[in-house]
Amino acid sequence: VNKGHGVKGLADLGLKTLPHQYIQPPQERFDHTSNEEPNEDSIPVIDLSNSDDPKVAKAVCDAAQKWGFFQIINHGVPIHVLENVKDATHKFFELPAEEKKKYSKEQSGTNNVRFGTSFTPEAEKALEWKDYLSLFFVSDDEAASLWPAICRNEALEYIRSSETVVKRLLKILMNGLNVKDIDSTKESILMGSKRINLNYYPKCPNPELTVGVGRHSDVSTLTILLQDDIGGLYVRNTKTMKWVHVPPVNGSLVINVGDALQIMSNGKYKSVEHRVTANGNDNRISVPIFVNPRPSDIIGPLVEMVESGEKPIYKHVLYKDYVKHFFRKAHDGKATIDFAK
Ligand code: SIN
Ligand code: FE2
Repeated sequence: VNKGHGVKGLADLGLKTLPHQYIQPPQERFDHTSNEEPNEDSIPVIDLSNSDDPKVAKAVCDAAQKWGFFQIINHGVPIHVLENVKDATHKFFELPAEEKKKYSKEQSGTNNVRFGTSFTPEAEKALEWKDYLSLFFVSDDEAASLWPAICRNEALEYIRSSETVVKRLLKILMNGLNVKDIDSTKESILMGSKRINLNYYPKCPNPELTVGVGRHSDVSTLTILLQDDIGGLYVRNTKTMKWVHVPPVNGSLVINVGDALQIMSNGKYKSVEHRVTANGNDNRISVPIFVNPRPSDIIGPLVEMVESGEKPIYKHVLYKDYVKHFFRKAHDGKATIDFAK
């Protein structure tokens, strides 16, 4: 179907019914009445304005243990930077299909820039209703020559302006593990590389039959996610196994723990399953920054965890191999982390 034009290409044809390739098996569809948690217990929204308040640090560490997710407000990333990257995302996806295809696997000429659709179409039994542009950050110079001009500066500015809050959160989280000193080796393992994704979820003719993104956990250390005001991101409550909505909060950023941090913290911080529903009324965008170890780093439970007498739950793995494993298969909930067991 419409090869290379992405899901937006399909949506633009004005389809009345979902193409069969996107029909998910019943257990992967989202049924609001039976799957959704009633709203009494929800993902914390943490106000970062008071920088030295120990209550802030406690709220961050508690949320990373209990939910693996929280939202931050007064985070120091200027609102215009967030608005600009959202506008740029719309502009990129509104480009003619032929323009976007220049950034596809076949045409981009680099693994660091990828316009694609679904998650791993080669490995999936059913496709996901999403297009994306994924940009691996190497340097400003590389971005200047390889990233699409229509969103390059906005994406770079968002990466740059979130650096301070990322460092602050990682420091708080490391403190919570009694890791006091983040030397350059540790800094590399925690945040040595970054990837930004521009995600586009077109309005869908049969949202109840498919997904925007299937159940998965991220392979990052931390993910910083900007979402628009449409909604549809759901997080697993690991106690009840039901799904909790992450409501759009104006000006906020959603932060989640990824597998790399779960592994480094020896299971103390949780990388929690999440998913995105398809929407019958609106197009939705989101823009995650994945803060990752470097591909060449070896990740495992931090020495501080093991020295404190804990038995390591995970083994050491080359981060590149971990990521390769993730991208070899369809989204499958929390299964990726078994690679480090
Ligand atoms: C994802 O987790 O892959 C996307 C999250 C979102 O779009 O909200
Ligand atoms: Fe994710």
